[in-house]
Amino acid sequence: MGDAYRIALLPGDGIGPEVAGAAVRVLDAVSRRRGFRLLFEEYLIGGAAIDAAGAPLPADTRSGCAGADAVLLGAVGGPRWDRGTGDQRPEAGLLALRKLLGTYANLRPVSVPAALASRSPLRADRVSGADLLIVRELTGGIYFGQPRREGTEEALDTMRYSAPEVQRIARVAGEWARRRRGRVTSVDKANVLASSRLWRSVVMELFETEFPDVQLAHLYVDNAAMQLVRRPTDFDVIVTGNLFGDILSDLAATLPGSLGLLPSASLGDGPGVFEPVHGSAPDIAGNDIANPIGMILSAAMMLEHLGQADAAADIRFGVHAALKTGRMTADLAADDMAIGTGQFTDAVIEHATQVAGTPDPA
Ligand code: NAD
Ligand code: IPM
Ligand code: MN
Repeated sequence: MGDAYRIALLPGDGIGPEVAGAAVRVLDAVSRRRGFRLLFEEYLIGGAAIDAAGAPLPADTRSGCAGADAVLLGAVGGPRWDRGTGDQRPEAGLLALRKLLGTYANLRPVSVPAALASRSPLRADRVSGADLLIVRELTGGIYFGQPRREGTEEALDTMRYSAPEVQRIARVAGEWARRRRGRVTSVDKANVLASSRLWRSVVMELFETEFPDVQLAHLYVDNAAMQLVRRPTDFDVIVTGNLFGDILSDLAATLPGSLGLLPSASLGDGPGVFEPVHGSAPDIAGNDIANPIGMILSAAMMLEHLGQADAAADIRFGVHAALKTGRMTADLAADDMAIGTGQFTDAVIEHATQVAGTPDPA
């Protein structure tokens, strides 16, 4: 047998276990076909971990993730745990995981497959051909800045960036632009925020010295939100801070038509975390109706990162071929034409394992 990889699997809460289960089925099928092994070790995170172990990122989850080749994560959170504060929230487990693994670069690709242009709430002629990459800073900014204080009369968060933090994320954006269409839009709020003025000047200087071949533009975040909807095809790479990247990526999900479609990779110096952009979707959890594509494409990003590019391509082919048949989950399907999470996943596996020119399954 060929290579083997240790994958820490963190299903989490809500639809997390449903979509993570779908991704594992797809991964099992393509890895078998391509001759490598994925050794899944499952760990608790989020609300499930609070219930079972009293903390959203228990010690064995920490050590399991730190020692894995990659982390595959569903989603965390839900109304059951929303009264918690500080460290006793499911989301705190996810933030602690990102900090632990130092995954400062969150890559969120957004494109509009031809089969989906008509599903977007935006006009098909505007969204067709959109293909952008949001590079979101993930371990700094207002999510982590100190001081930070909970309170009922007054509460405090701190938006803080240092020059080295901005440089390293800007470098990631510049490198991706070179592999794509050579353009970066840096998004900030430099007309109001000191941290954004630092952000902008550091990005400008870095591109002047290290990426003179990359075309750099700047937008304020309010305008960026509008331009993303008005002229989405003009964007190539967007680089932005933690909070703005969180908001703009959900907005960008309206281009292909559903938040359930978007994958992400969170990368740093250790194992990467591969997670869909969406959350635990408590409003639809437990009904086998969630769209598994964001999770499945996150698994493809994981395989690509692990050096299994052919298997990653199989997955992407399988997803697009399944979409082309016109059968989709309820978030995208025309009324009463929807298929379930499991059925859609079956279709992905069927197409992913029948890619022309690939070996027959054993
Ligand atoms: P959400 O992303 O869970 O859901 C937003 C909307 O999109 C809902 O209507 C939901 O049904 C829909 N949706 C999301 N994923 C879908 C999918 N795969 N298929 C079909 N429809 C999908 O955001 P929310 O409702 O604001 O948050 C719910 C919980 O998830 C909160 O506790 C939040 O903190 C958490 N959350 C977690 C993550 C994560 O773990 N990475 C990300 C975002 C939100
Ligand atoms: C995301 C989520 C998380 C974030 C939450 C759940 C902590 O919304 O990954 O986009 O804000 O980063
Ligand atoms: Mn988010």
